[in-house]
Amino acid sequence: MADRPIDLRSDTVTRPTAAMRAAMAEAEVGDDVYGEDPTVIALERRVATLFGHEAALFTPSGSMANQIAVQLLVPPAEELLCDADAHVVTYEIGAAAAIGGISTRTWPAVGADLDPDVVAGMVRPDGFFAVPTRAIAVEQTHNRGGGGVIPLSTLEAVRAFASTAGLSVHCDGARIWHAHVADGVPLDAYGRLFDTVSVCLSKGLGAPVGSLVVSSAERIARARWIRKRMGGGMRQAGILAAAGLYALDHHIGRLSEDHGRAARLGEALAPYGVLAYPVRTNIVALDLRKSTLDGPALGAAARERGVLVSVLGPHTARLVSHLDVDDDGVDRALAALPALFRA
Ligand SMILES: Cc1ncc(COP(=O)(O)O)c(C=O)c1O
Repeated sequence: MADRPIDLRSDTVTRPTAAMRAAMAEAEVGDDVYGEDPTVIALERRVATLFGHEAALFTPSGSMANQIAVQLLVPPAEELLCDADAHVVTYEIGAAAAIGGISTRTWPAVGADLDPDVVAGMVRPDGFFAVPTRAIAVEQTHNRGGGGVIPLSTLEAVRAFASTAGLSVHCDGARIWHAHVADGVPLDAYGRLFDTVSVCLSKGLGAPVGSLVVSSAERIARARWIRKRMGGGMRQAGILAAAGLYALDHHIGRLSEDHGRAARLGEALAPYGVLAYPVRTNIVALDLRKSTLDGPALGAAARERGVLVSVLGPHTARLVSHLDVDDDGVDRALAALPALFRA
């Protein structure tokens, strides 16, 4: 049988390990829509505590977690600010507008750079003549921003001006675990800055399904209601929550291995002038405008050599390290990819 390709498209492609599957098989379950699944309850309590909040809600996806959070913070016809590359306005298929009736306005995105003064300058005052700004969303780590990490001090500055202006702050923390490992910032130090945080178990942590919204008990009670309305109430979801609990126990510390592997990929490709941003975590963002290869050509040539990369646009591509790519996989990717840029 031919070798399985080295799949660097995304950290969502991981398959549950044997030990994770065993934990899932053994999970105690109940009907979670009735609030009776002990494993879901345990996961929700655990994640709320990790982030220094009162409560959390298990959701089927990160997109649903984000959309529940923004609906909690922004009433219909009012405004959410975020950067132009944020997942919440790029990859959630217009859900804030379509489902929440929420107006969004964006600041220009440059990786994970975030200038609190630029954001503060966008806030519209209450009044009868303009859409009132209600909340700001930040993304940690930043997916389209090459896995960049927003410094804690910057997030603190955003929190400070948001509080002064009476705004809420949401963090799309699908990969906040990576920021925690890369910068050594405790998860609750992040959590306490935000009114709502969404986190994913199904990215770097390697669970097959699942995300959570974290917030106050009052907001999470309302979130449960919004989740049901969006069709996200799940029944014996403890099987999935067990994978999440397993991932929290076993897969956070090891993220530094993924960061090291992404750094190796980045170092090998840097001489070809194709790195969009410095590699900080598990994402290597490529800017191919100065390369002889465009995105689709890179995707096809890499595939032919047994490496899958994500083609995000005519001149952008992405490599992501994760639980299912070991050192040998990175060696194989490195045997194939730099040669393409030399050609
Ligand atoms: C930053 C970020 N937020 C949210 C999501 C959404 O997660 P899901 O695919 O589970 O909806 C993703 C998915 O990759 C993401 O990268």
